[in-house]
Amino acid sequence: MTPHIHAEPGDFAETVLMPGDPLRAKFIAETFLQDVREVNHVRNMLAYTGTYQGKPVSVMGSGMGMASIGIYSWELFTHFGVQSIIRVGSCGAYTSDLKLYDVVLAQAAWSESSYARTQNGYVSPVTHPSASLNEALTLAAKQLDIPLTVGTVHSSDVFYRAEVDAHERLFREQATIAVEMESFALFHNAQVLGKRAACILTVSDHLVTHEAASAEDREQAFTHMMKIALHTA
Ligand code: HPA
Repeated sequence: MTPHIHAEPGDFAETVLMPGDPLRAKFIAETFLQDVREVNHVRNMLAYTGTYQGKPVSVMGSGMGMASIGIYSWELFTHFGVQSIIRVGSCGAYTSDLKLYDVVLAQAAWSESSYARTQNGYVSPVTHPSASLNEALTLAAKQLDIPLTVGTVHSSDVFYRAEVDAHERLFREQATIAVEMESFALFHNAQVLGKRAACILTVSDHLVTHEAASAEDREQAFTHMMKIALHTA
């Protein structure tokens, strides 16, 4: 039991899939897992444990932003025996090389965030996922014949920025190919605690072309990404 997760140590599987939206966690559990039980509902941050092809797996919402995923991933790693967290999220594309619904695998997260500096004095603006988890995700995507674009993602603290063309600058200066709001903190926590984390993302909107995903297409693309994550888990 932690302040934000009212569960017992054995309630979570060693691998947790984390979408941002807790209702998406519910949907994943109900659609893809067997023998599902709810293991947390504090603040409606729903978490479930079940099995996928006979193997235990958990799924839990992270909430939006680094403050939120920072809390939940820390408590999962330190109190519930969780070894691996795979974030399954959405992102905005910074380059026309990416199309709507493409699936992105984060090879690093770049951020202006003070999260890591505040947490333990880590001053680099870049954190990294687990190499072995990324290998497993890459292999799963290959086996499922789903193309993956590998690149550095921008973990932003701010969704509504004043600077209109920040995406052009950040693509040019930091080589970030897409924006989301959680990976930098997730990777940092895993690194600090000797655990594993990774992140795959579906392109849900495009900062260059200004396209946005329709509900049905989003669902289809999301299913692709989930298959890769579940195959890996
Ligand atoms: N900005 C930040 N996070 C996001 C976006 C975005 O445009 N799209 C999906 N996640």
